[in-house]
Amino acid sequence: MRQHVNPLSKNFFEIDPIPPLNQVFENPKLPLHLDIGSASGEFLLELSLQNTHWNYIGIEIREKLVINANLKINSREKKNLYFSFGNANNFFDQSNNKSLINAINSISFNFPDPWFKKKHHKRRVIQPKFINFLSNSMHNGSLIFIKTDVKELFEYMELTILESIKFKKLTNKDFRFNESFNPNKIQTNREKYVIFNHLKIYEGIYIKT
Ligand SMILES: C[S@@+](CC[C@H](N)C(=O)[O-])C[C@H]1O[C@@H](n2cnc3c(N)ncnc32)[C@H](O)[C@@H]1O
Repeated sequence: MRQHVNPLSKNFFEIDPIPPLNQVFENPKLPLHLDIGSASGEFLLELSLQNTHWNYIGIEIREKLVINANLKINSREKKNLYFSFGNANNFFDQSNNKSLINAINSISFNFPDPWFKKKHHKRRVIQPKFINFLSNSMHNGSLIFIKTDVKELFEYMELTILESIKFKKLTNKDFRFNESFNPNKIQTNREKYVIFNHLKIYEGIYIKT
């Protein structure tokens, strides 16, 4: 089992700034999706090949994974994917990233590290301060997607998001997935594992109002 990275470690206070979107993407005007905790990047690598009318950014705290993932996209003809190294929480602390967040159509948190012990809850990636930042920076109509196999973590994340009165929950059955960042419902690595092991998945979609 892999060793979890402690996001509160001082090694992660500084993170790589994301360059302006017109330097990163072939067409910076395409809808933009951000995946937090993108790990080895396989999910976004597949998504971005299938959905060339979207741009994707992955943020991951394990630097080696980001370096390897970026190597895989260097040779690609179509530039609609970028991986950034860093602690997503600190990334959002940087005020120059506010305009980037405003350009985002959706954000996914797929199977974040659960940090089960109460004294470690502050290491969870979804924090009230972070959600507050998103609620003040994301544009109306933009979406947050969460997924986990840990019921207690799901309840914590949902509560934290809905405590911001600017986010409202959408029902999955009314949601038009074919218009979203993941129309073909591609699964992340953790999701494949969870499905293979018949574990329950808890998921929610929230809209900024
Ligand atoms: C359980 S894995 C899930 C990976 C992938 N999303 C999936 O569904 O297969 C959680 C990932 O989030 C990353 N991570 C944890 N805390 C983070 C943070 N504060 N900022 C960015 N990435 C983080 C971990 O290093 C790990 O790769």
